[in-house]
Amino acid sequence: MKGKLIVIEGNDGSGKSTQARLLAENLTKRGKDILLTHQPWKKRLRKYIRKRIEEDASPKELVRLFLIDRFIQCLVQIRPALKKGKIVILDRSKYSTEAYQVSRGFPEKKFEKMSEWVEKISGVGTADLCIILDVGAKESFRRLKKAKRKEKNIKYETSVKELEKTRNKYLKIAKKYRECVLVNGEGTIAEVYNRIWKEVKGIFKE
Ligand SMILES: Nc1ncnc2c1ncn2[C@@H]1O[C@H](COP(=O)(O)OP(=O)(O)OP(=O)(O)O)[C@@H](O)[C@H]1O
Ligand SMILES: [Mg+2]
Repeated sequence: MKGKLIVIEGNDGSGKSTQARLLAENLTKRGKDILLTHQPWKKRLRKYIRKRIEEDASPKELVRLFLIDRFIQCLVQIRPALKKGKIVILDRSKYSTEAYQVSRGFPEKKFEKMSEWVEKISGVGTADLCIILDVGAKESFRRLKKAKRKEKNIKYETSVKELEKTRNKYLKIAKKYRECVLVNGEGTIAEVYNRIWKEVKGIFKE
């Protein structure tokens, strides 16, 4: 595939959307053709997933919903973009599903197999780079409280304890997948962006 797939990951309130936007702007200025997108993707599915999380749906059901959404997006949006040579910047992906649903009881090996299947059959494959923003639980909690949010916070975000749990899972994920790099997400937006840029530059070198 001609394009590149860059995923931005991390805990709730770690600054993913802020940094994904900045990266898209910077790469556009440098003449790259960008697709900035997110998961879950399909609006109706996104709303439904949110509702089911609020209703305490099982990790098994949520994993299925996330994978269906991901598969559709890979086929309809991401693969065609990569084929055209676009740089796809993806705000959350399978690493989020792993951080939340696998840590809440969905079997890890089964999740890996199902995800591999989505990557293979959709033709998108593994990401070229996955940046995992690491922010202390108290700091992400502060950021979430401060932010004016369009959508109501889902309950996973509501306590420092939950944020700490998810953060630890992300630290493990960062070590597990070779496309993942852990980036310190604390400090000013510009400081974090500079750290991200150092990693992103690397994938355009070869
Ligand atoms: N480095 C930073 N320092 C302080 N505040 C920040 C920083 N980066 C982002 N923020 C602010 O923190 C809030 C959360 O940021 P953002 O929405 O980018 O996080 P996110 O990881 O996308 O969150 P979510 O998981 O809820 O989608 C926003 O109000 C944003 O302006
Ligand atoms: Mg976001």
